[in-house]
Amino acid sequence: MKYRHAYHAGNFADVHKHVALIALLRALQRKEKGFLYVDTHAGRGRYALGSGPARDSGEAQSGAVAVLAALRGSGSAPEELVDYGAVIDTWRRAADARHDYPGSPIIAAQLLRPQDQARAIESQPAEFEALRKALGRHSRVIAEHGDGYQRLRALLPPASRRGLVLIDAPYEDTRGDFRAAIQASRDALTRFEGCVIAIWYPVKDARDTDRWLQELARDLPRPALAAELWIHPPDSRAGLNGSGLAIVNPPYLFADRCDIWQAALRALLDPAGTGGTRVVSLVGESR
Ligand SMILES: C[S@@+](CC[C@H](N)C(=O)[O-])C[C@H]1O[C@@H](n2cnc3c(N)ncnc32)[C@H](O)[C@@H]1O
Repeated sequence: MKYRHAYHAGNFADVHKHVALIALLRALQRKEKGFLYVDTHAGRGRYALGSGPARDSGEAQSGAVAVLAALRGSGSAPEELVDYGAVIDTWRRAADARHDYPGSPIIAAQLLRPQDQARAIESQPAEFEALRKALGRHSRVIAEHGDGYQRLRALLPPASRRGLVLIDAPYEDTRGDFRAAIQASRDALTRFEGCVIAIWYPVKDARDTDRWLQELARDLPRPALAAELWIHPPDSRAGLNGSGLAIVNPPYLFADRCDIWQAALRALLDPAGTGGTRVVSLVGESR
């Protein structure tokens, strides 16, 4: 595997995914009862933005760096974006890491309560070692070295009968990763039908992603939606045009709030206005 998330950490898609992740974790925390968070593709947890791969690619500059700067000067952003800015800034202060960016397991570690549990699975040995170090010994998030899909099968259903799964594959083998995400969601729902599942996917050509969304929705026994933010027209040849999240068992009012924060986030990420956003129902209530 050649994929290294360090080149893409903090880019517009990471920001989109992490705002949604924080909103999902907060939604589960509306109830006192604990839950299990499973991060099937965890990454290394902590990324230096000022040096190495992230500096070489420059992707974070127009992503997290721009968004965090704009949020610090804004008094009127939607609460999900304010929360995102606060979570990143709080971690940076606590970790003495002003120019670093936290990955999904570190973000979860910031938010989990004593009654919540989490597993973060990473398959690449060097990334896993970095993740273990980034989480530290006292984290509520337990890092595991292995295959995220296999571990997911073993971890569900959780004893608490409440859970959130993030499937954030690298899409290096694009067709294979799209197929595996559908299979993993179906397996997860068979074991635990109330599981909230968030699948991140790249939007390159909208016709391909729409076909995949239809395939995901076919025979899905639970409500689901797709939330997308794109910064280039969804049929342009720019490469990664947009960022998508398919969410199974979305929390109450998640779609309505998503409409609001995605539009505000797009304005920060895409000042030229060539992109767009959408939230569509895949299974369940039409919108
Ligand atoms: C997109 S990155 C994850 C980023 C992370 N979720 C975040 O938001 O900070 C994908 C990661 O999945 C790892 N990976 C690839 N296949 C995997 C598998 N089958 N199981 C677990 N990890 C895998 C890659 O090594 C890479 O670090």
